[in-house]
Amino acid sequence: MLPRDFVWGVSTSSYQIEGAAQADGRGPSIWDLYAKVPGHIANGDTGDVACDHYHRYREDIALMHRMGVGAYRFSVAWPRVLPQGRGAPNEAGLAFYDRLIDGLLAAGIEPWLCLYHWDLPQALQEEGGWQNREIAHWYADYATLVAKRYGDRVRRFVTFNEPSVFSLFGYGLAWHPPGMKDAAALHQAIHHINLAHGAGVDAIRTEVPRALVGCIHNVQPSRPLTDSTEDAAAAELLDAYWNRAFPEPQVLGHYPELLAKRIEPYVQAGDLERIQRPVDWFGVNHYSPIFARADAAAPLGFAWADAPANVRRSPIGWQLDPEAFRDVLIEVSRRYGLPVYVTENGAGANEAPDQNGQILDPERVDYLKAYTSALRDAFAAGADVRGYFVWALLDNFEWGAGYANRFGLVYVDYPTQRRIPKESAHWYARLIHSEAMRGVS
Ligand code: FCB
Repeated sequence: MLPRDFVWGVSTSSYQIEGAAQADGRGPSIWDLYAKVPGHIANGDTGDVACDHYHRYREDIALMHRMGVGAYRFSVAWPRVLPQGRGAPNEAGLAFYDRLIDGLLAAGIEPWLCLYHWDLPQALQEEGGWQNREIAHWYADYATLVAKRYGDRVRRFVTFNEPSVFSLFGYGLAWHPPGMKDAAALHQAIHHINLAHGAGVDAIRTEVPRALVGCIHNVQPSRPLTDSTEDAAAAELLDAYWNRAFPEPQVLGHYPELLAKRIEPYVQAGDLERIQRPVDWFGVNHYSPIFARADAAAPLGFAWADAPANVRRSPIGWQLDPEAFRDVLIEVSRRYGLPVYVTENGAGANEAPDQNGQILDPERVDYLKAYTSALRDAFAAGADVRGYFVWALLDNFEWGAGYANRFGLVYVDYPTQRRIPKESAHWYARLIHSEAMRGVS
């Protein structure tokens, strides 16, 4: 049985839901520019309007309240509060998150504030972005601003969401901004993101001594596409970039062996101590195993591969393997020795309302049942798992896939912005309710 104070939550991120891209002094992020380049995003979608959460956050809080969730993980859009990335803050942008946080607290929902879910201010990109070592200072100043402003009401702070995804996709595979395929740039970015994490942890703690700080890592088994030795080596390399490049230096104080030599040119004396700052918990995002194949011509020596057709897959082609999730939780808990929170898990699909206007999503319900049951198995096997957040509260802008892939518990009808809780939202509400009622007669 899970502990009574187990946290059941939902997650979102700023660029994926807020919209209001030009409202009240928000500056452009790298995603605003990247999404507007034809061919980058399916269907030419952008986050300009998204779920218009910036204006509809009250309704979204009410949806969460009705579902009974105990916690909400959102991210602050750096360019909304610092339009130039540094320098003068934007009071109107800061005030938006005041309203959001106050609304959450009034609804009895704990805010989990993530500082970075990929929407870097464009102004900083123009100064080199994550390739410029100075960014650790810019990030720490931003963290100070946010912690100072909200630290009286927010205790849970997240330094980064999935640093390995935005670094690998942005600098190694050219699927996200800044759209590069350059091994040196990737290695530089990895190290600077890690330095920013360490500086951010210190900045938050200085402002908010009672803060509980963590970083969120995506952890999924990296599998070879075939049983060739070349593909096995490719999968090990992908594992190092995807699962280890950030948590190992941050928590254990060293880079994974396969990457240490590659990153060394960017490491200065004292850096690993700057990175390995004490954190309070470990965030895991997990969806499905990932696949790699050897590719001697690729800058990193391997290529990303789709899940093979002979495995069980979700409607958007991701492998279904709840046992892998169980094993990841056990392994992460053992390796890093920190309380673990699953900060994202969920299923993508392309559903639409039926003729009664309802959204039946039995595949998502099955997914959530199987994965929460795997989580219980991990807990029973000794993993110190303390919370679970579904990705996502709402359908939203799913990066390169635009609005086509829907991950929400709540359906968003984009033309009208109407929200319709799906069958999975009702299922999740029942699960949370029955957990709360456990032992209460
Ligand atoms: C994760 C991201 C999140 C969302 C889900 C489906 O990698 O953190 O923003 O796109 O995948």
